[in-house]
Amino acid sequence: MAKRRIGILTSGGDCPGLNATIRGVAKACFERMGEDNVEIVGIQNGYYGLINNIARDMDPSEFSGILTQGGTILGTKRQPFKMMSVIGEDNVDKIKAMKDTYKKQKLDCLLTLGGNGTHKTANLLSEEGLNVIGLPKTIDNDIFGTDVTFGFHTAVDIATDVIDRLHTTAASHSRILMVEIMGNKAGWLTLYSGIAGGADVIIIPEIPYNPKKVISALKKRSEAGKTFSIVAFAEGAFDTEEAKMKKKERARLRKEAGITTATNRLAAQIQEGTGIETRVCVPGHMLRGGSPSAYDRVLATKFGVRAAKLIECEKYGYSVAMVKSVITENPLSEVAGKTKFVTEDHQLVVTARHLGISFGDKAEL
Ligand code: F6P
Repeated sequence: MAKRRIGILTSGGDCPGLNATIRGVAKACFERMGEDNVEIVGIQNGYYGLINNIARDMDPSEFSGILTQGGTILGTKRQPFKMMSVIGEDNVDKIKAMKDTYKKQKLDCLLTLGGNGTHKTANLLSEEGLNVIGLPKTIDNDIFGTDVTFGFHTAVDIATDVIDRLHTTAASHSRILMVEIMGNKAGWLTLYSGIAGGADVIIIPEIPYNPKKVISALKKRSEAGKTFSIVAFAEGAFDTEEAKMKKKERARLRKEAGITTATNRLAAQIQEGTGIETRVCVPGHMLRGGSPSAYDRVLATKFGVRAAKLIECEKYGYSVAMVKSVITENPLSEVAGKTKFVTEDHQLVVTARHLGISFGDKAEL
């Protein structure tokens, strides 16, 4: 068997399960093709490392003991897709530079572990003739064409734990506790953890909220004798008035009005409208930190093993995925540039409505 030189990078925001995936790919490649036939080149800090040729040959021993380790042993960096084709002050043609590194490193293929932005660049490189395989990571779970991304379920567990803890303090103080959960475009993390944690109101970007509806849902609970409430709020959510605007216009108006975050704004509206003391909790990057859950370790390993199979078969230009619980792959060209959003008729939205959870949009079922 001919030797394979495999470049690997992690790009965009980190998440638990990156190392488990790297380990899965490496071990399965060694197993399938023989350790002597496989060379793995670790590219440092995502596409930044590919642009600047910051890469090194990795020793097989480096892939042991990392299954449970959070973050990424390769480092990561945000390198926005829209800037890839723009030549900046440094005069670097980033696309050419990435192709040059690929050649200089004598790579047979490149594995890119990342979210939506990473997949767009992966597709671009694939169109430029490189042999690329994508692996879907993100706590946001918003990559098109896969049921789930690795990192998501660990974040759901962490966010659920936060909501559980907020329950006891909310109950002690008879307060409303709002938790702001990561997710700028898609509300999957807020939806799942909101249901798992028993939130009373769930606000997500896909369902613009009316503050009056949120207040009336919370008042109804209070009138029914409930002494506290929990609101799970996705960081990227906006109200029904803002839904009529473009993102930039929304941001401008918020800035002019001195609104720090939509979460803080809604908290103030709720406190005024209900007369109940309202507090905000922002777990932020804690949702992305630490060891992957058992679910994510298994998923990352399965994804890694699939990527190794694709490398062995020289099947490039794909992103590994799980579709209807089966591990498979999608052409990069079919998934790059698309976002998987929560839909109004998604089973979990319907389930939540049947429980009386308010999305702040209409009367509960
Ligand atoms: O894309 C994952 C994500 O965690 C989003 O949910 C969040 O909005 C963003 O990254 C935060 O990015 P950064 O780590 O660059 O602050």
